[in-house]
Amino acid sequence: MVKAVVAGASGGIGQPLSLLLKLSPYIDELALYDVVNSPGVAADLSHISTKAKVTGYLPADDGLKAALTGADVVVIPAGIPRKPGMTRDDLFNINAGIVRDLITGIALYSPSAFILIISNPVNSTVPIAAEVLKKHGVFDPKKLFGVTTLDVVRSETFTATVVGKPDPSVFKIPVVGGHSGDTIVPLLSLSEPKVEISDSDRDALVHRIQFGGDEVVQAKEGKGSATLSMAHAGFRFVDSILKAVAGETGVVENTFVYLSGIPGGDTVKSITPGLDFFSVPVELGPSGAVKVINVLSQVSDYEKGLLEVAYTGLAANIKKGVDFIVGAP
Ligand code: NAD
Ligand code: LMR
Repeated sequence: MVKAVVAGASGGIGQPLSLLLKLSPYIDELALYDVVNSPGVAADLSHISTKAKVTGYLPADDGLKAALTGADVVVIPAGIPRKPGMTRDDLFNINAGIVRDLITGIALYSPSAFILIISNPVNSTVPIAAEVLKKHGVFDPKKLFGVTTLDVVRSETFTATVVGKPDPSVFKIPVVGGHSGDTIVPLLSLSEPKVEISDSDRDALVHRIQFGGDEVVQAKEGKGSATLSMAHAGFRFVDSILKAVAGETGVVENTFVYLSGIPGGDTVKSITPGLDFFSVPVELGPSGAVKVINVLSQVSDYEKGLLEVAYTGLAANIKKGVDFIVGAP
């Protein structure tokens, strides 16, 4: 029996993500938590004739506890999105506290659940989550994931457009680093199938992948950021986890993780300037991350340059998240 929880289920991402999860053959129970409208969203989805039993919870009457108790997977898209002109880091002041409080609930009521964090800034909210879980003595790095799948989805789509392939899903492109602007590092040199493009096309493609989120924020003109593509990406990640839990082998997703807690992670950490968190291809198994796949030692000189830039931004974002919980020195 698999219970999945969406925290932030009434929002722009939460609703379509909950719809996709309601269609999953792996999920028996789907609990929707939000500060508004979650009973309504749950009532609506509950009429769909798939097996998952859907329930909706608000904060009143210990709703967070009821939603989380018995959870196997908790996905968190709670928090405010960007408006034009904002960076993801501008969301920190509001979203840091939201993530801290939800993770505290997970530490208390479902400490062994897989935790997938979508709320931005991911580069900081995942370190926040790790520190809260550590404080409660329940941190399992193999089960805490920052969701960077949308960067991978974009790299597949935009690359297919540039090289003129009709089906973007044939591409496997590692995207490492973090989830904001130049901390997003697509490794096009490791793409399968190979991508043969000019240096100027490559530069433009990398820039589009790094700043793809801005395209959506600008197109939505103040009404939020990516929601539908994010719901797809979030679902893809949950689906991969549930496939691995069900015994499928060779399941790999790129995700922002605490490196030292996962076999192979320290090798990647030693290539970076000692960063604790990094997005990397991770093999998934029944109890979470099984192995970090080291792609950093195979990158091109051009990509080494991109990584150097990413390291600086990431170090600051990670420190900001950790300091939010443990206090600035
Ligand atoms: P939204 O405003 O449409 O929805 C957010 C939802 O969170 C709302 O329903 C709100 O009521 C709820 N919420 C607020 N505080 C809460 C709390 N304490 N507990 C439970 N729910 C709470 O925003 P959105 O477009 O769905 O985006 C959500 C977040 O996801 C943003 O931070 C955005 O930047 C981020 N995001 C991340 C990625 C990624 O690739 N990781 C992609 C897109 C968006
Ligand atoms: C994205 O990449 O689309 C998200 O992180 C949302 C944003 O703020 O751009």
